[in-house]
Amino acid sequence: MKNTNISKKLFIKSYGCQMNVYDSDRIKNLLEVKGFHETSNIEEADLIILNTCHIREKAAEKVYSDIGRINRLKQKAECRKKDFKLVVAGCVAQAEGLEIKKRSPNVDYIVGPQSYHNLPEIIESDANIINDDFLQHEKFKNLIFKSSKRVSEFITVQEGCDKFCSFCVVPYTRGAEFSRPVNDILKEVKIYCDAGNKEIILLGQNVNAYHGTNKYNKQVDLAYLINCISEFDTIKRIRYMTSHPKDMSDSLIKCHGYNEKLMPFLHLPIQSGSDKVLKKMNRKHTVKNYLDIVEKLKSLRPDIALSSDFIVGFPNEDDKDFDETLQFVDNVKFVIAYSFMYSSRPGTPAANLKHIGLEVKKARLYSLQNLLKEQQKSFNKSFVNSKIEVLFDRKGRYNNQYIGRSIYNQSVFIEHNKDLIGSIQKVRIIKSTDFALEASLNE
Ligand code: SAH
Ligand code: SF4
Ligand code: F3S
Repeated sequence: MKNTNISKKLFIKSYGCQMNVYDSDRIKNLLEVKGFHETSNIEEADLIILNTCHIREKAAEKVYSDIGRINRLKQKAECRKKDFKLVVAGCVAQAEGLEIKKRSPNVDYIVGPQSYHNLPEIIESDANIINDDFLQHEKFKNLIFKSSKRVSEFITVQEGCDKFCSFCVVPYTRGAEFSRPVNDILKEVKIYCDAGNKEIILLGQNVNAYHGTNKYNKQVDLAYLINCISEFDTIKRIRYMTSHPKDMSDSLIKCHGYNEKLMPFLHLPIQSGSDKVLKKMNRKHTVKNYLDIVEKLKSLRPDIALSSDFIVGFPNEDDKDFDETLQFVDNVKFVIAYSFMYSSRPGTPAANLKHIGLEVKKARLYSLQNLLKEQQKSFNKSFVNSKIEVLFDRKGRYNNQYIGRSIYNQSVFIEHNKDLIGSIQKVRIIKSTDFALEASLNE
């Protein structure tokens, strides 16, 4: 691995949230300088990086089964005398470094989400290294930002979490809340603008807890940052995720009322519709707090589309609590939402509580998902025969098929003989499915 001039192949796989997608892009940029080029063929890779997620047990176990498969590849590679190195990065690396080494001695390097800027040096050393320091400040100063050439570009503006929900590993894997300075973010936006980027999606585990400093060294909030970014002419759309109800400030809510580039879509996880469960979850907000936010948002932006996350089967959740969740969903009406069975995570306070049986969890997940699907379906159906603006960002599976997003973040499919990627088009919706819309550009 010492010669940096020869082209070497990098295979990188991202699990979990968008912040890992962003981190994987940064890892690629750092390693490009060392002569690595990305490959989608794992068999020809000189370096394999798994950028992992620890949020639920299934996500973490998937990593171990992938490592097992790569180990078999290693044996095959040894026969062909082609060596490669395996790196486990991301949140599993942070949470279970020693466990990974124990279970999978063939892993060469382990690096957490706040120290991956050291990867170029790490892979040139010969030691077996577990790198799990929290070096947020140093990390961002040493990253390289190149356009991913996507129409929509992610930018991590905030990292970490101080909320300590009793079920969640993120405060332990990503560390304390940290915000990047406004100017650093604007410099990054400029790079993507120059590459033709049309939409910016601001990321953070608690993105609305953003509290970076501006050029006068004054602490500012997410609304301030959004307003600065919207001054770039070529940026047509801005989104942010994921938000916590406690940090949904009046200034951010107001921003939805006046900033036309800020899309009328908000992903605001609540987790449960029962105050009893929210308290046990240590969510630090009530159902009423959430409903008040929705009301304020709707008074300023009546068409705002809402999305959320739910956990079913949290310890002690009884039928009444779950009914409250269903009633809450019925009341708010979400255009999309993600729901999960509670997964016990090592080291979190809820892991010590008495767990609910799998069958009950499964039944609750099934009925919640049915309700959410019905809401999504009827939201999509309400667009048939209307005209909406869509930003097309990728090619579909078929020739001439393009896929884009409505302002409410719905996926919109269209067939067209001219390249639509990167353009915003007013299209007529001709059909809706459970999860998407189909459009035509003809009158
Ligand atoms: N920071 C965000 C969410 C981060 S994790 C927030 O506070 O809302 C993304 C989602 O995973 C969470 O919203 C939650 O619904 C789910 N999740 C987190 N820990 C989980 C666990 N132990 N079991 C099941 N789902 C979990
Ligand atoms: Fe996890 Fe709660 Fe922090 Fe979200 S707010 S990342 S769910 S601890
Ligand atoms: Fe997973 Fe870490 Fe993101 S645990 S959800 S990759 S912050």
